[in-house]
Amino acid sequence: MEKDGTMSTYYVTTPIYYVNDEPHLGHMYTTIAADVLARHMRMDGLDVFFLTGVDEHGQKVQQAAEQRGIAPIELADQVVARYQKLWPQLSISHDDFIRTSSERHKQAVQAMWQRLMDADAIYKGMYEDWYCVPCETYWTETQLKDAGCREDSLCPDCRRPVEKVQEESYFFRLSRYQDALLEHIRNNPDFIAPASRRNEVLRFVESGLNDLSVSRTTFSWGVPVPGDDAHVIYVWIDALTNYLTAPGFPDERYRHYWPADVHLIGKDILRFHAVYWPCMLMAAGIPLPKRVYAHGWWTVEGEKMSKSRGNALRPDELLAKYDADVLRYFLLREVPFGQDGDFSFEALKQRYNTELANDVGNLLNRSLAMLKKYRGSELKGIADEQAMDRALIAEVEGMQREVDAAMQAQAFHVALERINAVVRHGNRYIEENAPWVLAREGNDARLDTVLYHLLETLRLVALQLYPFMPSRAVSMLAQIMNGPVDGEALRMAEHGGWGVLQPGHICAAPSPVFPRME
Ligand code: MSP
Repeated sequence: MEKDGTMSTYYVTTPIYYVNDEPHLGHMYTTIAADVLARHMRMDGLDVFFLTGVDEHGQKVQQAAEQRGIAPIELADQVVARYQKLWPQLSISHDDFIRTSSERHKQAVQAMWQRLMDADAIYKGMYEDWYCVPCETYWTETQLKDAGCREDSLCPDCRRPVEKVQEESYFFRLSRYQDALLEHIRNNPDFIAPASRRNEVLRFVESGLNDLSVSRTTFSWGVPVPGDDAHVIYVWIDALTNYLTAPGFPDERYRHYWPADVHLIGKDILRFHAVYWPCMLMAAGIPLPKRVYAHGWWTVEGEKMSKSRGNALRPDELLAKYDADVLRYFLLREVPFGQDGDFSFEALKQRYNTELANDVGNLLNRSLAMLKKYRGSELKGIADEQAMDRALIAEVEGMQREVDAAMQAQAFHVALERINAVVRHGNRYIEENAPWVLAREGNDARLDTVLYHLLETLRLVALQLYPFMPSRAVSMLAQIMNGPVDGEALRMAEHGGWGVLQPGHICAAPSPVFPRME
């Protein structure tokens, strides 16, 4: 809550995905991570704006459409339909879906262009370079030479032929903002994460920035330069501006959510987000995003994922085997966010069975089963609280604080490790207290106290798991609360304290939420 009583906002974005490929694991990954943040922040009571969408313009899309004999917009429509079907299947709760072909986006990009013109940050010149069509990347003579690619005119990235291009072009005065950008990065240690990426960007900027060609006359599928229709605005100015379009730019209402709290991206598009984008914003007099977080890349069963190898993991294949919650959990638990990682079906099964089926599943089943057996599923309250109960409460409260901190830092794996630690503590607590002995000995005061602490721990664990596994967490809560639970309405301020369950409350009988995977 802000001082004036309005809710604090939280704006999180994913990259906008190119429409010349079908969705794959990489796209799922960033979007799931963004969704987990969005759900966590909503539970914390923030006014969240979660944006994803598609990047429709550019030569690659125009060419892909030509090859299929359709118009670019038709190709885009097809891929958009795929994404719009996919996101609900993965429980993605985005607030907006941006298409760069939309009228609102065209308005925003042209307004952005105008601001850059007004600031004298754009000038017209001649452009001569090498261009790789498949990678949509321009290379300078020096870059080709450095990579040993000049002789055969090959792309340093994909080793396919590059074309020499010379055309009239508008340029953005990137070099003018070099010092200001360096200062911003140095003064704001959290601006680029993780730290290794920040260093990478610092080194790149320190080595000197060249002005950037920002228009093309060689294709037409894009936003025209205002007042100079022969030119189309370069894809990255177009694409990056999506983050402003969605909250309402150029209308002043965009300031309600802007600046973004975090742009989640893959490491391959760091330079665009951590160098070009902030310089453009500085030139236009618009505040910079608070943070750019570049995650790592997935390999699949040890191999680089690629279209040509045909081993890209597609959502349909994954969703036929596992439900959304399992995929969400695995992707964020397996690899520390920011590092590269490997997707393997064996590792997924292993993690699921150990951490979810064994640890969380057992804690839930045993607790509810004992409550049913010894107390007809009724919680009686706390008649004999001891040190080990207070230790459990302290552990749960520590988890809440640390999960919050981890989410602020996009350290998803840390958050999940912390939740799992409480679950293991809960299972040990059962062993140490041996409720079956307490029942046999007729120690009702202790038995009731132990059962209460178990159920309250489980409830708070389920709340923390909710952003990661919305449906499983709701199933857990529905058994504990013995009635339907609306996940979207969960709020930490209301539900997050210890002691919400009241004596006399009757839980449901256990029914497995994490059956073992064979
Ligand atoms: N359209 C641009 C982004 C513009 S944002 C203003 C683009 N699109 S993309 O569809 O090619 O890629 C989107 C994201 O997918 C990138 O963040 C990229 O890092 C990510 N991934 C592609 N392959 C990946 C893996 N194998 N693993 C993890 N993420 C990967 O770039």
